Amino acid sequence: MEKVYIFESSLREGEQAAGCGFNPRSKLEIAQQLERLGVDIIEAGFPISSPGEIEAVKLVASKIKKCTIAGLARSLKKDIDACWEAVKKAKSPRIHVFLATSPIHMKYKFGKAREEILRMAVEAVKYAKKYTSDIEFSPEDASRTELEFLCKVVESVIDAGATVVNIPDTVGYALPMEMYRIIKYIKENVSNIHKAVISVHCHDDLGLATANSITAVEAGATQVECTMNGIGERAGNASLEEVVMAIHTRKNLLNKNTNVNTKEIYKTSRLVSRLTGIYVQPNKAIVGDNAFAHSAGIHVDGILKDRRTYEIMKPEDVGVQGHKIVLTARSGRHALEDKLKKLGYKIKDKDFQKTYERFLKLADKKREIFDEDLRTLVEGEIFKVPETYSLQYVNVVTGNKTIPTATVEIKNKGKIMEEASCGDGPVDAVYKAIDRITKVKTRLLDYSIKSVTGGKEALGEVAVKVNVQGKEFLGRHASTDIIEASAKAYLEAINRACHPK
Ligand code: KIV
Repeated sequence: MEKVYIFESSLREGEQAAGCGFNPRSKLEIAQQLERLGVDIIEAGFPISSPGEIEAVKLVASKIKKCTIAGLARSLKKDIDACWEAVKKAKSPRIHVFLATSPIHMKYKFGKAREEILRMAVEAVKYAKKYTSDIEFSPEDASRTELEFLCKVVESVIDAGATVVNIPDTVGYALPMEMYRIIKYIKENVSNIHKAVISVHCHDDLGLATANSITAVEAGATQVECTMNGIGERAGNASLEEVVMAIHTRKNLLNKNTNVNTKEIYKTSRLVSRLTGIYVQPNKAIVGDNAFAHSAGIHVDGILKDRRTYEIMKPEDVGVQGHKIVLTARSGRHALEDKLKKLGYKIKDKDFQKTYERFLKLADKKREIFDEDLRTLVEGEIFKVPETYSLQYVNVVTGNKTIPTATVEIKNKGKIMEEASCGDGPVDAVYKAIDRITKVKTRLLDYSIKSVTGGKEALGEVAVKVNVQGKEFLGRHASTDIIEASAKAYLEAINRACHPK
């Protein structure tokens, strides 16, 4: 199987994404993760852009041992000097030189004719070659460059010493069949092409960056330039996770492989997202939150019978902890059954229909049913305990200069009873008042409170564990008022103690 080299450019091209910039520590952290991921080349930056960038690339070059470290340079001596200064300490350094070759770039950016551009490209490669043997050349905007001229440039830079020729679709304009034709044409018409690696660098302006990269590989490219999560200038670049997983998943057709340890993909994606502040869209291929989430009943049913019905990759292969079944009103009974089982509930067949109906009612109100909703649904209904004691009223007076005092009213066998108590805190006061009414001897073993939903109006869920005559009983209640939730959770535990199963 032929190997495809993965050239990772999150630290250079990714940094060109609007709003994205790395400090040297972040660059190093990402580079170290890219090394673990197993990419072949890390493009660590564009050293001429600032003294800080030279230092950042230097830091990466000095620490990373298993990957080639590349720096980008325009076809100018000062750029190449800065680039070498930055990458020279790398175990395997590369200088990546570029120059635009399309008519529109030559005319409007440089005001130069082809001959002059060709001369500059060759001189730049020769100059870089004085420093190191590993030289990559990119004819910028190659996909809009006339093919004859593109071949001439490629042939000349290889003669001048370029060991990698990268064909960028700089503005994401090419279609997959065009990319295929360009690479094929270069392979067939550049006499010395066997002396260099053919690379591609595709932008995603038309959403075709991955498709273009893969067709280029099919046509003979053996290096793909990509970025994690597809970050990069404008709409970004071919995303590493897509390119690598396409090669990995469709080995049967492509007959290629990469060095990437795919199990590190998800971790790398999240690291890059955290350090760039660029969020990954939920439906992003491979690394989006929904990439392995199943919701529709027919799909969930298929997945539960055999995951291959709707999964072409194992989530674990990219470092994701299994697939996610998202419960909605359309998920079906199998999904609910499976989820309840996973949450540890054994519901008798005869009770299941009722649970399912309650689930549907809730799912019609809420878009997505979370584990907590299910717990509340099941524990509140199926395992409902008879309410020996039910809370009618609770009032607490508290403050930083007041002794917390609670007044509680509870109904028991039709009788309303009221008590008041002070306590170490408002919850303690409430629990003492409850104890005075119920006279059940409890020992509070555990009390926890957490917010079930987000925002200021979040539901607070209180869970308590009490010991009554040597046995443990649990109580749980959610409310927007945490004092009420505390009182009801405690009473639920006491009610369980009154009706032990
Ligand atoms: O998009 C592009 O053309 C580039 C080159 C420098 C490879 O980033």
